Amino acid sequence: MTEGLLEGKVAIVTGASSGIGRATALRIAEEGGKVVVADVLADKGKETVEMVVENGGTGFFVETDVSDSEDVREMVRKTVDEYNRLDCAFNNAGIFGDMKPVAKYDEEDFSRILDVNIKGVFLCMKYEIQQMLEQDGGSIVNTSSVWGLVGGEDSSAYIASKHGVIGVTKAAALENADTNIRVNAVCPGVVETAMVEAIPDEISEALIAKEPIGRAGKPEEIAEAVVWLLSDRASFVTGETHVVDGGFTIS
Ligand SMILES: NC(=O)c1ccc[n+]([C@@H]2O[C@H](COP(=O)([O-])OP(=O)(O)OC[C@H]3O[C@@H](n4cnc5c(N)ncnc54)[C@H](O)[C@@H]3O)[C@@H](O)[C@H]2O)c1
Repeated sequence: MTEGLLEGKVAIVTGASSGIGRATALRIAEEGGKVVVADVLADKGKETVEMVVENGGTGFFVETDVSDSEDVREMVRKTVDEYNRLDCAFNNAGIFGDMKPVAKYDEEDFSRILDVNIKGVFLCMKYEIQQMLEQDGGSIVNTSSVWGLVGGEDSSAYIASKHGVIGVTKAAALENADTNIRVNAVCPGVVETAMVEAIPDEISEALIAKEPIGRAGKPEEIAEAVVWLLSDRASFVTGETHVVDGGFTIS
């Protein structure tokens, strides 16, 4: 039997109670990794762990708000307490927020989105890298978006936050390039998850219509790329913005 891509590796996945995070937690386990499922939603997070275990994998849930430094520190501490190390992290938790033009965008909503989507990624990397520096390195993937690369209407906070994720990814990648810690970002196009279901139908349909491939992506299609980036197969890849978007950003 061939070894899994992440055999014996310990991985944290944030936002793993649903969507892309859940699909990636399941793929990591299929590839032999132990998965720490981190999310604000406890019931659905525990359900992800049950799915991992039903598939023959190993993992546990940690209730974590990624915008809270104490929670994030605990997430890493509990991982290391249980498994003695941390090899991989998928910092994926994110929120979309209201759809309004800049002139009408609420200041508090703007701050909340940046808190979760950028500060959350920063805090996760801060404590993950501290641990990875104490061992023999690691691999981190942060979730940006096609809206980390191009603009769009009525989602200024989200778009700013996802551009920011790419910036903080490049900074951390460069700082750690000689420490055997690789840091990359993934940019999904429109993917069938709760986040897209929450958008009014006419808007999500218009977004899917912009997909040259003619459909929305599936969470599993993003998970596939993330697992590769996390794995040693991507050993020469760091600071990359990896686009998995059905061609959304081609034109
Ligand atoms: N679905 C898409 O089309 C799409 C496209 C590009 C990027 N993304 C990004 O992919 C990531 C995953 O989103 P998804 O589409 O799977 O949506 P989703 O809503 O299914 O999953 C998001 C998860 O993040 C969790 N979460 C939210 N705030 C949190 C916090 N403060 N701390 C911890 N967990 C928190 C939610 O509980 C949920 O489980 C997000 O960063 C999103 O911005 C999604």
